[in-house]
Amino acid sequence: MNSITNLIREVVSRARQATQSLYFGFFQGHTYLTPNELHQLSQLVGITDDTVVADFERQFAQLIGTGEAIAYAAARMGFYEIMRLQGITKEDEVILLGATCAVMVNAVMRTGATPIYADIDPDTFGSSSQAIAACITPRTRIIVAQHSFGIPCDIEPIVSLAKEKEIFLIEDCALTLGSKANGIAVGNFGDAALFSTDHSKPLSTLTGGLIYTKNTELANRLRSAQVNCPHLSIKRQNKLWQRLLLEARYCVPARLGRLGLIDLFFSITKKITHAEGDFLADDFGTTIQSTYPYPAKLPAFLAAIGLIEVKRWTKTSLERANTLKRLIEIINQSSSRCYLPAAYKNKKLEIIPLRFAWSEPKGAEIRLRIKSFIHVSWTLFMTPIIATKSPLQNLGYEKGSCPISESIGPRMVNIPCIFNTRDSDILISKLILSII
Ligand SMILES: Cc1ncc(COP(=O)(O)O)c(C=O)c1O
Repeated sequence: MNSITNLIREVVSRARQATQSLYFGFFQGHTYLTPNELHQLSQLVGITDDTVVADFERQFAQLIGTGEAIAYAAARMGFYEIMRLQGITKEDEVILLGATCAVMVNAVMRTGATPIYADIDPDTFGSSSQAIAACITPRTRIIVAQHSFGIPCDIEPIVSLAKEKEIFLIEDCALTLGSKANGIAVGNFGDAALFSTDHSKPLSTLTGGLIYTKNTELANRLRSAQVNCPHLSIKRQNKLWQRLLLEARYCVPARLGRLGLIDLFFSITKKITHAEGDFLADDFGTTIQSTYPYPAKLPAFLAAIGLIEVKRWTKTSLERANTLKRLIEIINQSSSRCYLPAAYKNKKLEIIPLRFAWSEPKGAEIRLRIKSFIHVSWTLFMTPIIATKSPLQNLGYEKGSCPISESIGPRMVNIPCIFNTRDSDILISKLILSII
């Protein structure tokens, strides 16, 4: 009975979204692709083409610095590969941010190691050197320093700490590309960095991720292991292609509301027919078996989309930086200004935002006010581990272990910064009406 009531509620809520003339989400569809480009990409679905992947790796790495990049079907897989090559086992501890995605925890669990959660820095919503220092034990083998929402975390003290303790440092740049701290782009501080290119991330290949490193020996080892990674099945690649076409059509504010209803229909039919999903969605809990190879190679057609996205990146990042400037100006005229994280005023940071984020006592009320035009159910880090149905203690999180994250999370507000100037203008004018 309960599940029927929930289903009815969900249908009503999505039907309401579908009626919105403009609805702003956190996923980027490849709406700009021309029919000709789509045709060319379709020719690569299910095809092995290492040169396209190598080209994407090279061009993506050049966005960050002088290091190399190695691509996978998802960033979590690259993270897992590094841990495997570092010889991480069940004796070891890996420090994650207490505002992370369940797939990161799942990758740690696959090695048998214990995830340890370091509290969030309220000035950046990312990793904090003090909180990490408090988590270090003789068993700590890896520190993950996370840059959230496009904001560089307090990375330099974390680098010093990792060096002093001789612990391997990975930057989690899944949510941050192109931002700089003291003039240095994120990804260049740690021993390695992971970048996700899934559709909710700064540069989208629908699903995908890369490890970036300036350590040539590590890059060579990752590359040798990558050769042995299996491909995603042709069936899975076809599903991803169909999804890409769907998002290329619907991920624009004028049509996005309708995608919610379409997705609900697909998820119900999937449940009835027990069909495999399109996305790589088996790693959101404690299960360490997937219906796809793990780790897997990035399919060539997704790498080809990545090459198009890299070309667009200069323009995209400028648009986003400009959107952030305007959002800060607007919030500065409202009572919410007191709660903006200090990072937005820090002159040493250059922020290319993915989302504009703040946390305030009226956060839940604001989410309610903007819900008619922003997909607020995708607000990040309302809990210390997101995107999971597992109880957090099953993912090794003890309630109370990250008190700042637990108190900031439920009051979080996120505004997507992924739109072109015209759509950002509309979004901003709607925000002015509902927030100021
Ligand atoms: C903070 C963070 N790190 C890492 C990842 C992993 O990325 P992927 O889904 O490409 O494995 C995610 C995914 O959402 C994330 O939010």
